[in-house]
Amino acid sequence: MNLYFSEGEIFIWKKDQDYHSNPLSLSLRMQKESYRMPNKQGMIAKDIYTASTYFVKVLFCNDMDSVYVEKESKVQLFSPFIVRIYGGMLDQEHHRFITVMEYIPEHDLSDLLYQNGIAGDSWKEKMRVRHRIATKFLYGIDYYMSIYEEDPIVHRDLKPENLMVSPDGSLVKIVDFDWVHLHDSSHTVTLRREQKGTPGYADPAYWNQYICKQTMDIYSAGLVLFFLYTGHHHFHGNDEIQRYMMDPDYAYRLKDMPGVDPEIHKMIAKMIAPEAERYQQIKEIIKDWKAYLMSKGLWEDIPEILEEEEEDTIRFSYEIGDVIYRPYLKPCRFLPIEYGTHQERSQNGRVSGHIMSFYRLEDRIKAVILHEDCHPVLVRNTESVSEGDIYSYAGTQIKVLQIGRRS
Ligand SMILES: Nc1ncnc2c1ncn2[C@@H]1O[C@H](COP(=O)(O)OP(=O)(O)O)[C@@H](O)[C@H]1O
Ligand SMILES: [Mg+2]
Repeated sequence: MNLYFSEGEIFIWKKDQDYHSNPLSLSLRMQKESYRMPNKQGMIAKDIYTASTYFVKVLFCNDMDSVYVEKESKVQLFSPFIVRIYGGMLDQEHHRFITVMEYIPEHDLSDLLYQNGIAGDSWKEKMRVRHRIATKFLYGIDYYMSIYEEDPIVHRDLKPENLMVSPDGSLVKIVDFDWVHLHDSSHTVTLRREQKGTPGYADPAYWNQYICKQTMDIYSAGLVLFFLYTGHHHFHGNDEIQRYMMDPDYAYRLKDMPGVDPEIHKMIAKMIAPEAERYQQIKEIIKDWKAYLMSKGLWEDIPEILEEEEEDTIRFSYEIGDVIYRPYLKPCRFLPIEYGTHQERSQNGRVSGHIMSFYRLEDRIKAVILHEDCHPVLVRNTESVSEGDIYSYAGTQIKVLQIGRRS
């Protein structure tokens, strides 16, 4: 018998400990059930002390082995385009695994397109929003694939339902990681979960196999982009799904996308091509994608994405409360994450820490403070960061001490 949470129930959630995390415990009031399935449940919950809202995912498992891997999923992903997961708790007594993550108050891409639709008064405006969503989606994939170069994380279930988006594309987050291919010190864990990928989105060559390759995610991502730009699934209905399973000529050939630039069609076609002709790396896609948007003058529409020039680093130091950060000293209370350019995550707070993010704009640095879940909370409308500047957020003062150019 599964013990589902009921609305109104209070549950003390304690994060399973690993060697590098602080003890974390939350007193959660279960507010609203988001979904219930035979083996899982989604709940919106509120911390009774701080009133912060979280999303709680419960996985019921009589066979404790399959939960084991979720327990192993200690990789923390810090990207604005990936849901922020705070941790998991194995409730052995009730045979359930409880993951707490940031609550995303938006629809998934499937609901969005079938219900309210993409924001914008004209086709052109809607197109801009689609580019914005597509670009952030690709950067989210690049983020998790780049963490372990030799043993990349693969999502394995990219599809519109696993992409949360706001109608104007300001928020885009990938959810529902399978954690199937995690690099933990030197060993790889394989999760034996009943379902691996979704028909119509998974690469049929690897359907139901214990194989993990980046090209699988690239294939699924291509079909998600098709859905984003056309508003319908590439493979639709029983007959098409059957044919896609059986016939490679059908599974790997992109349908027409009326009204969509042929250059976009070409890139998506290469994402779902037979594996040998497919894009092998997400970075190659991003390179082509960016070049396309730049050639059309559309890249500036996505100011959230700023890339770092490798050479000629600007060094800086700053102080948060009584913690001083200097790049040369490397105090261990900061974790670099990728958002724009340099970014440091303050670990002073527990769940509600903030992130000081620095953008490189040619020879200047701009700063933004992000909430832990990566939405901007303070964007200073100044040209650039100067020594002595003070940023205040949630009672914390952040002072820029020094900026210098590395020779
Ligand atoms: N962090 C979240 N905040 C709000 N809603 C979420 C969140 N994560 C998932 N959901 C919603 O719940 C649905 C199922 O969650 P998901 O993690 O994809 O689990 P499943 O394994 O059941 O597909 C998603 O499609 C989305 O609509
Ligand atoms: Mg899902």
